[in-house]
Amino acid sequence: MAIWNLGSINLDIVYSMSRLPLAGETLAADRVEQFLGGKGANMSVAAARAGATVHHIGAIGPDGENARTKLDSFGVGIDHVVTLDRPSGHAIIAVAAEDGENQIILFAGANRAITKDQVRMAFANARETDLFITQNETNMQLEAAKVAKEKGLRVCYAAAPFDVEAVRQILPYLDFLILNEVEAEQLEASIGKAPQQLGIRDVIITLGADGARHFAGDTGEMRTVAAHKVEAVDTTGAGDTFTGYVLAGLDQGLSMADAMEQASRAGALMVMRHGTADVIPTLAEVKAASFD
Ligand code: RIB
Ligand code: NA
Repeated sequence: MAIWNLGSINLDIVYSMSRLPLAGETLAADRVEQFLGGKGANMSVAAARAGATVHHIGAIGPDGENARTKLDSFGVGIDHVVTLDRPSGHAIIAVAAEDGENQIILFAGANRAITKDQVRMAFANARETDLFITQNETNMQLEAAKVAKEKGLRVCYAAAPFDVEAVRQILPYLDFLILNEVEAEQLEASIGKAPQQLGIRDVIITLGADGARHFAGDTGEMRTVAAHKVEAVDTTGAGDTFTGYVLAGLDQGLSMADAMEQASRAGALMVMRHGTADVIPTLAEVKAASFD
């Protein structure tokens, strides 16, 4: 089985700061580093490192060859990553040393210039036992969800960054919705129902340090997986890592509980690491890790 991910590919420039800058303030950074990023690319790399076969559907610009090479070397299928005549997506990320919290300036660039043809062509090789995942940093999510659904794939969606209209439109096609607490509240405020009341087969709400909660649409059952307590260095990409690991686990036939537990370990390791896709832990690292 395989995972198909229509997702962003960003060049992340990460500045480590003593704290996050305030509006109008000039504040020096102690360190700057570049990573492969984008919520999409992070999820693809996480799923690949968890052992899944992943096909990424996305777009970069002429300045993005390094990102393509990295995706490839990290084990992600890049046959459906196209190069367009506009700049690659990028993210300027400030990370505060005190608690690992971040602030992100996002420029979408090529990520939002994906065409319907590109999406249709990519799905020509997808099978109904495969999973499809998308987020909100590209265009064409709705079209892709429709094609994936037609083909019988399980349609998964991470509602980040949150966009009410995008969520509203894609909802009818979803088998699996994953979002954080803030996004869950935003969704409820805008449509008047909690995410777990929408008739979706699987809903996961991530709760940061409090773990993650799964709601089974068919049985109404709820399960909470605790987060491992770790010293936060950089929380960037931890949610993406969690999602990629959950999908890979399900794709490999793990139960939801086991997939979430493994993903929670991967997310915890990611919080302890500085950077994004490049530093997403491998399955071997996740299995070997011990937490207090
Ligand atoms: O979720 C983290 C990601 O958000 C970063 O890699 C950055 O590129 C932004 O998309
Ligand atoms: Na990190």
